[in-house]
Amino acid sequence: MMKDRLEALRREALDQLETVADAAALNDLRVHYLGKKGQLTEILRGMGSLSAEERPIIGQVGNEVRAAIEEVISQKQQMFDRADTARRLQAETIDVTLPGKTPSVGAVHPLNKVAQEIEDIFIGMGYSIAEGPEVETDFFNFEALNLPKNHPARDMQDSFYITEEILLRTHTSPVQIRTMKAMNGQTPVKVICPGKVYRRDDDDATHSFMFHQIEGLVIGPNIRMSDLKGTLLQFVREMYGPQVQIRLRPSFFPFTEPSAEVDVTCVRCGGQGCRMCKQTGWIEILGCGMVHPKVLEHGGYDPAEVTGFAFGMGVERIALLKYEIDDIRHFYANDVRFLGQFARM
Ligand code: PHE
Repeated sequence: MMKDRLEALRREALDQLETVADAAALNDLRVHYLGKKGQLTEILRGMGSLSAEERPIIGQVGNEVRAAIEEVISQKQQMFDRADTARRLQAETIDVTLPGKTPSVGAVHPLNKVAQEIEDIFIGMGYSIAEGPEVETDFFNFEALNLPKNHPARDMQDSFYITEEILLRTHTSPVQIRTMKAMNGQTPVKVICPGKVYRRDDDDATHSFMFHQIEGLVIGPNIRMSDLKGTLLQFVREMYGPQVQIRLRPSFFPFTEPSAEVDVTCVRCGGQGCRMCKQTGWIEILGCGMVHPKVLEHGGYDPAEVTGFAFGMGVERIALLKYEIDDIRHFYANDVRFLGQFARM
């Protein structure tokens, strides 16, 4: 009787297991047939009423039925596990041959790049870097540079005033005075001063109300105009190439005497004459001169003891020439199509 029920249970269980659909259903069947409150336990509970001879026989049949069902369950379990692994391998496969997404990398702004290059050249010649405020006093921006109030040369640098006495600096030359004062009469002074400057100009292809300058100042006993010339020649050759020549044209700045404007041989045509240099073969790049005695005095130096030279250049201008850019406004528009071109230069 009990043996028949066990055999029937075996058949039923194996039948069900034959068509089990997934791991969850398999687990349900396992609980149903083999669990603590399952069918097999239910049948074997009746063993108590069996005779002593029957008991071991039925016990053995019960064990065989359990083993047979467990065997099939474990086969099915392995089958589902393999199928699951295969499905995940398929779903999570990475196609390493797909083209990647190129990360967009930023670039140093061309003006910073050129400013850094200029700084590096002068640092290589033993200069150090000095800085000053962009909001400046009339004294440092004009007065101490030998440009007294109502001096007509002030017209060269139309300014943004905050009060009568405070303005946005129109050039980096006030840093000359600040540096001299900080040096307290000591020599040598050998600095370059990079920074932003402001002028009341209407913006166009070659003018901007804000631009960048780098000032140079050297003071010591017996500094001569030939030192200035040699320094500038060395600078332009490192900047534009060893074939470049310079020429100095007499000019006027209230804070230098004598003063000169410096031209380089045209970076595009090499001096033949082209549209860029207006057929002259030369391009103006900076202003310079020997520091005016009155400026030395304002800075706390005795013009009988020391002399010096100074120069000032526009970073935009140097960059326009270097990269043959035709409009200064490109520098400020922040168009990534323009800026991206300097990423690998
Ligand atoms: N500060 C002058 C300018 O902005 C340039 C300059 C600097 C000239 C130093 C001579 C010496 O035009």
